[in-house]
Amino acid sequence: MDVRLKVRRFDPEANGAGEEFSRYEMDVPEFYSVLDCLIKVREEIDGTLALRCSCRSAICGSCAMRINGQAGLACNTKASEAGRNGGEIVVEPAGNMPVIKDLITDFQLFWDKVRDVDPYLRPESAPPAGQEYEVPNEDMLRLAGVMACIMCGACVSDCTVLEVDENFLGPAALAKAYRFVGDPRDDADGARLSKLAEYGGVWDCTRCMQCVEVCPKDVDPMGRIMLLREASMEGGVPGGYGERHVTAFTNSVRHSGWLDELRLTVNTFGMFNLPKLLGMAPTALRALRAGKVPPLRHKSIPGVNHVRRLFERHGA
Ligand code: FES
Repeated sequence: MDVRLKVRRFDPEANGAGEEFSRYEMDVPEFYSVLDCLIKVREEIDGTLALRCSCRSAICGSCAMRINGQAGLACNTKASEAGRNGGEIVVEPAGNMPVIKDLITDFQLFWDKVRDVDPYLRPESAPPAGQEYEVPNEDMLRLAGVMACIMCGACVSDCTVLEVDENFLGPAALAKAYRFVGDPRDDADGARLSKLAEYGGVWDCTRCMQCVEVCPKDVDPMGRIMLLREASMEGGVPGGYGERHVTAFTNSVRHSGWLDELRLTVNTFGMFNLPKLLGMAPTALRALRAGKVPPLRHKSIPGVNHVRRLFERHGA
């Protein structure tokens, strides 16, 4: 099988001049993965190509990179599929992390964020002497999916929030946080959820689903973030702007059948939060210029009772 690779290169010693693509062509067996091809390049064609790998079995998580623009494990991606119809396979380093060399990225920020969520059990008391903590099977089954995470960083690579805001904890760290909030042996839910409700936490996810799409282990990070939001709201944890935004949005639709955008802003940030409200002025001006200013008097839509009944039926 003929394979054509286009690999993004980065040489830290070239002062920015070394960023380019290298192209390689090879004949490999049908079963070769993208990682097999890259290793062949390094061993037989170009020994300067830098990449990271270990298990070659989708277990260690070290070979995450972008293949044809989307994050994934190179060892778990067949070259025949990635280069379907004889197409060139474009290989780039994982995104949202600084590149050290070629396909190797610096995971420092990734691990800092994971450490930020206290990734360990915080029980209030030790188990009775000579006994272990016992966890019902169903609880562990619920957590099994998130415990399958191999920390490859694919979700972080393609997170659209991290792309614009480095302060966001990111899908991997938040999924890890859920693993402990959801564990009955942990007694620190209140403190954990309060911290996660701050700027950069669960309310900053935009639900773009990209982390769900690229996760090679079906961890569903976005789903875990939504469960953390639910736990926050059910536990009465003050959720800051995010939670107030959701509550104001829901109240508006329940009341009038549609969104009162003026009140949404005020209720989210607070009537007297002048710095935040003034910060919205450029958006308001743009809306004004585009003729999209919401009406000052917010009227209910015809048939609003149907909407209210929907809320009642779902206990919202
Ligand atoms: Fe271990 Fe790919 S080399 S996951």
